[in-house]
Amino acid sequence: MSRPAPLCIGLALAMSCLTKSGWRREDSQVEHLFSIDDYIQLAKQAEAAKLDFVFRPDTLFLPMEMVGTEPGFSSLDPMVLLAALATATSKIGLVSTASTTFNPPYVVARQLQSLNWLSQGRIGWNIVTAIDGQTNFGQQNLMASKQRYEMAAEFTEVVQKLWNSYPDDALTFDRQSGEFANSNKVQAINHHGDFFNVQGPLNVPQYPSGNIPLFQAGASPWGRDFAAKVANAIFAATPDLHAGIELRNDLRQRAALQGRNADDIKVLPGLSLYLAETRQQAEDLYYQTHTSLTREKKLAYLQKNLGVDFSALDDTQPITVDMLPKLDAVRSHTHTNLLTRFIERESPTLEHLLTRPEVMGSAHWLVIGTPEDAVESIKQRVEAGAADGFIAVPGGSRQSAQLFFDQVIPLLAKAGLSRTEYQGSTLRDHLGLNA
Ligand SMILES: Cc1cc2nc3c(=O)[nH]c(=O)nc-3n(C[C@H](O)[C@H](O)[C@H](O)COP(=O)(O)O)c2cc1C
Repeated sequence: MSRPAPLCIGLALAMSCLTKSGWRREDSQVEHLFSIDDYIQLAKQAEAAKLDFVFRPDTLFLPMEMVGTEPGFSSLDPMVLLAALATATSKIGLVSTASTTFNPPYVVARQLQSLNWLSQGRIGWNIVTAIDGQTNFGQQNLMASKQRYEMAAEFTEVVQKLWNSYPDDALTFDRQSGEFANSNKVQAINHHGDFFNVQGPLNVPQYPSGNIPLFQAGASPWGRDFAAKVANAIFAATPDLHAGIELRNDLRQRAALQGRNADDIKVLPGLSLYLAETRQQAEDLYYQTHTSLTREKKLAYLQKNLGVDFSALDDTQPITVDMLPKLDAVRSHTHTNLLTRFIERESPTLEHLLTRPEVMGSAHWLVIGTPEDAVESIKQRVEAGAADGFIAVPGGSRQSAQLFFDQVIPLLAKAGLSRTEYQGSTLRDHLGLNA
């Protein structure tokens, strides 16, 4: 089919402009957070900009320490949200997150395949193991990371078997003979594994566009191996160029070891954008958005992820790797490893460490500046081999998202880095999987 667009570009549908103190702006329209209109508008804008997909992150818990001061993880169910977006759009891909730790695979397989029919082949699945929420599912402790990924691998296998258990060409609709479907083509899966026993078949046939594309988030060694084996793309947290190059090279090598082509897996870092007409305005926007992030909160974050309390230290104190304890279990290897590698490399002062994206936000690549600055940064990452595209996470204000559509995308298109027309109408087409 068509040649894929030069960069793979997604937009986080997370109202990230409302996080931290963003919701307190007069023009934030925070009251719309749980109504569908704003999401439809964003998805339509993303479609008009010819992006590959909108992407819905998701969690299954609400951190009580956040909800008093910011939306945090307050959110509509992604499958329900995407069902509404499927009917309001016609071309753009719709990627939903679903956890393999807390859901039954039959339900996830069915929800995603149902959405694939509603959207006519535009669905993708972001596979996450999840970092919290166990107490909402009758579990005291979260399973160890390695075991979560073993479960994720089996979960994904079951979901794929279920999708294949009822192929669309089984449907014959033969009114004459009375055959609705060729039952020989519909097969039980009889899966018996370490975590799941599922007979199948699924009660939704597979949409004819082919396998639903898989995304993955999580970059521990197990997460990387899992992604290298099954994923079409990885949603990555790479705060600096160094982390981006390391992750992309490593994933490409792991994919090759699995017998795949290194180009089969796209590395799509989250790109946090604080955009304004001038650099000074963008700095102000970033500062205003983060006023609620006190020193205490940042130190608590470091303690949670590195297992050490730096609160008694002076800001000028260099933080070195020998100050870090050896941790047996961490919440997210991605976040702990990023911080550890940065400390190893730079021995930063505590003050510097507290300004890192991993500590201030969600460990994403961060651009605070003008649309031109964003385009320069994107070019630099791509040329350095640190990204195959990105997932835009506009922050701070609605204007930041508007500038992304009005200026960043046209500048990228002018540079030949984003498409100006869709060549196909399914997510597989956009990702070049049918080429
Ligand atoms: C960029 C990025 C995005 C993520 N998005 C989600 C998400 O939407 N929902 C979720 O439950 N977990 C999310 N996670 C967490 C991962 O699924 C995973 O549980 C976590 O990173 C621990 O795995 P790791 O040790 O391989 O890093 C995300 C992680 C990263 C790095």
